[in-house]
Amino acid sequence: EKGTYPHYMLKEIDEQPLVIRKLIQKYQNENGELTIDVDIINAVNQSDRIYIVAAGTSYHAGLVGAQMIEKLAKVPVEVHVASEFNYNMPILSEKPLFIFISQSGETADSRAVLVQVKELGYPALTVTNVQGSTLSREADFTLLLHAGPEIAVASTKAYTAQLGVLSIFAAVLAESKGHNLEFDLVQDLGIVANAMEVLCDAKEELEDIARKFLATTRNCFFIGRTMDYYVGLEGALKLKEISYIQAEGFAGGELKHGTIALIENGTPVIAISTQEQVDLSIRGNVKEVVARGANPCIISMKGLETEEDSFVVPPVNELLSPLVSVIPLQLISYYAALHRDCDVDKPRNLAKSVTVE
Ligand code: M6R
Repeated sequence: EKGTYPHYMLKEIDEQPLVIRKLIQKYQNENGELTIDVDIINAVNQSDRIYIVAAGTSYHAGLVGAQMIEKLAKVPVEVHVASEFNYNMPILSEKPLFIFISQSGETADSRAVLVQVKELGYPALTVTNVQGSTLSREADFTLLLHAGPEIAVASTKAYTAQLGVLSIFAAVLAESKGHNLEFDLVQDLGIVANAMEVLCDAKEELEDIARKFLATTRNCFFIGRTMDYYVGLEGALKLKEISYIQAEGFAGGELKHGTIALIENGTPVIAISTQEQVDLSIRGNVKEVVARGANPCIISMKGLETEEDSFVVPPVNELLSPLVSVIPLQLISYYAALHRDCDVDKPRNLAKSVTVE
């Protein structure tokens, strides 16, 4: 039930700190260490490459998860859109292992790939919110999101829970391979949960940002580099899905290769900067669009902020930054949709789970 909330989406956004705290507990053993079923870790350690297959928001979570796995566990990962995979199957490695990410566990496009993967005899792990769902039953292994039912069509808490589970998976896998983590993931996810709380309390400020940048616009661009690029893709999907503003996320470096032609006077460009390594480059990209008349909204992480930034998120482990930087984007989308009188929880033409290919 949505209780006193006007929409499920807002309730589910607010649940994110709790979901992350619950997730930590669910994946902790009696000594407080994070664990993943040893059969899963063994299966991954017998494989030579991970293929992540998913759709929509879950695909965006996969892009971030792949970075976490490659950076921490040093296992090569490819991320694929489910609906393309079957028609355009890449040349697989000798010992592939598949990870299906799906909130509902019912997405037909992902299931079609799973059926094929099982026919080929490869191991498959499903990361899902729904125990007993089709993708969970048909895969060899399941990791649950423990996010509680997600009712709003726009996925919010499932995305951050997916990132939480993938970070735990990456860390446990890294340790099994003898790679030393230079941080304590339990502690850092706790910091993330606290930061999420701060962000959920910033609703008024984010509503003002939505009003200032998106009240009358027809389109909006999201730019970022590395992790921030993937979060930008998710921010753009959220915005278009519920507010019907045409939104596009792209890599900051790609601007000059075409998209910059679309920038006009007043075009909102939401730039995300949470990664020290690319902070200067993305700020350079912001200057390029501003010179063409764009209305820039910079969302940065504390420590990298400058005076021109519109919103600053609390500092967290850079690898976990998408779990926090996505929240202002979710809330900005929510308010943009609200201001436009859109049906936030049930956007037109969309269903919660897409059960046709
Ligand atoms: O249940 P799944 O995670 O497999 O769903 C995948 C997509 O259909 C889903 O993420 C969709 O993109 C959402 N409406 C995004 O908010």
